[in-house]
Amino acid sequence: MSEVTLDQRALAARFPAPFRWSAATSSFQIEGARRGDGRGRSIWDAQVEVPDWVKDGATAEPGPDSYHRFGDDVALLRGLGVDRYRFSLSWVRIQPEGTGPAEPRGLDYYDRLVDALLDAGVTPFPTLYHWDHPQALEEAGGWLAREMADRFADYTQLVIDRLGDRVHHWYTLNEPVSMTLQGYGVGTLAPARQLVIEALPTVHHQLLAHGRAVQVLRAGGAAEIGIPNNHTLVRALRDDDGAAVATYDLLHNRIFADPILTGAYPDLEMYGLPPMPVHDGDLALISAPLDFYGINFYNPTTVTQASSPGPLPFEIVPTPGLPVTGFGPEWPIDPAALRELLIDFRDRYGAALPPIVIGENGASFPEPDEAVRVQDDDRIAYLAGHIAAVADAIEAGVDVREYTVWSLLDNFEWAEGFTQRFGLVHVDQRTSDRTPKASYDWYRALIREAHA
Ligand code: NOJ
Repeated sequence: MSEVTLDQRALAARFPAPFRWSAATSSFQIEGARRGDGRGRSIWDAQVEVPDWVKDGATAEPGPDSYHRFGDDVALLRGLGVDRYRFSLSWVRIQPEGTGPAEPRGLDYYDRLVDALLDAGVTPFPTLYHWDHPQALEEAGGWLAREMADRFADYTQLVIDRLGDRVHHWYTLNEPVSMTLQGYGVGTLAPARQLVIEALPTVHHQLLAHGRAVQVLRAGGAAEIGIPNNHTLVRALRDDDGAAVATYDLLHNRIFADPILTGAYPDLEMYGLPPMPVHDGDLALISAPLDFYGINFYNPTTVTQASSPGPLPFEIVPTPGLPVTGFGPEWPIDPAALRELLIDFRDRYGAALPPIVIGENGASFPEPDEAVRVQDDDRIAYLAGHIAAVADAIEAGVDVREYTVWSLLDNFEWAEGFTQRFGLVHVDQRTSDRTPKASYDWYRALIREAHA
């Protein structure tokens, strides 16, 4: 592996054009304005109202308040010089109850955002769904119900009908693995269910929703479609942890990527897991060809054999000997793991793997709440290390076409509220004031060099 350099010219030289540079956010995390203009109630509106559930009691408001200040975001993106902006559409702004006609005021908002991006020379790259589905649909079973895929297809139709003339690049569902494992499995994200193994049907129903959305987007003339999932490199704590590694790799990585890329689930029975609720035709839909595969990467995961009997044979443990981000030992910093993951993916899926887009990568560090200019050298080092790891993978023959920083802005970090800051831009969450950090200038200079 090559030396990590903070020097933007040397780093940029490793990414021949037309490699693309981007930044990302998501609707619930930045928009604020949870009431009004016909917006419905999502599972996250319900979740932030659960007493003491969000660490600092934050309700995602005002936060960056991008519903009102999207013009500031577009100006920041233009200043950064990114090729594309990854943002997400709020299902409940567009279809408040998850069924029935569109709420025009919700679509108007995204219309204005898309037009502003295009005027600024930034390609809009929306995600249809970033975890904030209508609470009404959750009450009908949420992702445990197969009907969610039908609802998602209808919603996608409303979106493409309105935005499809100007938006040509689409992500479908953000990180289905997080929704399954954290949302329904252990309950650390909304809807905060603790179903463990019984959460598994949510894998299939999200993938089905993805497949249905691909169909609708293609029929609507979309140029480029993919799905961003979170993937992790799984390491063993001890030599005899092979079974723990294989099971965690299955649940975090393969159970999602295999059906999309190869049209088949891994052998779940072999791991003592129940079969997926597959109907005829589902796998053909789920494995419809994509234009790219999105990988969101933050950290590797170390596992060991479970110390006591239970439904799962592994335990996640801190990765020894690595520096950590604001989340502590849970989120170690290990750029080499990204290189290794990308190479493993290529080796595992071969020709079935479309070009890769890094859909998210970034880190939080403790930073002040009030509006100040942050000299975030730790974030710059994190980004430089991971961008160099992408270059290493490309040089090893992996086809990676785009890199996206999570996040453009400090925002609402789910159960952590406003306590974890991932932005290139500092946001005072009470005043919504935006102040670019040193990492914003660093990334801007990198993009300028890469485009030179
Ligand atoms: C993944 C998610 O897509 C995003 O919403 C979240 O803020 C980041 N990871 C950081 O946790």
